[in-house]
Amino acid sequence: MNPYPDKVYLNGKIVPSKEATISVFDRGFLFGDGIYEVMVQIGNRFFYEEEHLQRLKYCLSEINIAYNVDLLRKEIPLLVQQTNLVGKDCLLYIQVSRGVAPRQHAYPKNTTPTVMMYALPKVLPDINTVRASVVTAEDMRWLRCDIKMTSLLGNVMANEYAMQNGCYETVLVRNGVVTEASHCNVFFVKNAVVYTHPANTFILDGITRKIVLQLCKKLNIKVEETAVLKADIKHMDEAFLTGTSTQIASIQQIDDHLFYQDKAVGSITQRLQNAFLELKSR
Ligand code: PDD
Repeated sequence: MNPYPDKVYLNGKIVPSKEATISVFDRGFLFGDGIYEVMVQIGNRFFYEEEHLQRLKYCLSEINIAYNVDLLRKEIPLLVQQTNLVGKDCLLYIQVSRGVAPRQHAYPKNTTPTVMMYALPKVLPDINTVRASVVTAEDMRWLRCDIKMTSLLGNVMANEYAMQNGCYETVLVRNGVVTEASHCNVFFVKNAVVYTHPANTFILDGITRKIVLQLCKKLNIKVEETAVLKADIKHMDEAFLTGTSTQIASIQQIDDHLFYQDKAVGSITQRLQNAFLELKSR
């Protein structure tokens, strides 16, 4: 399968990818000065589209990029249509950069944002059967991890570290506490209580994270939005990752700590995976 889409959306037009060009002076290129979103279409609807668009709005406003996200409500279906993905499972990538301006750090005035989107076929498994081994590393990113910005070098380096260690993910630790992972949120379970880092500026408030919290409520599973200490990982009963394409993935091992000897999945992780599947099938 071609890993590149044949066509992309660029500034109001859907064009062959080969003809889609942007200026070398685009601030997305020069500074990583932009915001992105990733969501999936399952069947004929985008899963939690409204939440993804709201997060895009929030992030753009946090960095003062004036772009009307509501315009995308008309543009996304056009892109899906023109890439022959109507009613098909696919992944949608959206990126809005501040646009083109002479290179200077401060926000330039009256710049038109550069908007790029593409959709690619992607069928997610009903349930993610990965039994993830993960490593921990120092969270070296900045202090506004709630902003889904395109400057992802900290996340890229963390993910590369996982790959070099033959692992699925790198779980990040700041001042001794687990924040999130390079491209996922992290959850733990101890004595039937689910723990995850509070949604503040140290993590991205994942849409899947929000869904999992709602599912916990529905299933009467107790939740504490409290960060877990790295030193306490070994005392946890279960751990799992969440993210748009990861969905809910059981963690089998963190560093040297093995949660399960066999390929088992913790009972709460499993209940959440089943409830998540039900939500997708609706
Ligand atoms: N990653 N934390 C980080 C740092 C992320 O990059 C992501 C998503 C998440 C999970 O968020 P959500 O549930 O809304 O997908 C948490 C996306 C998918 C990516 O960069 O490709």
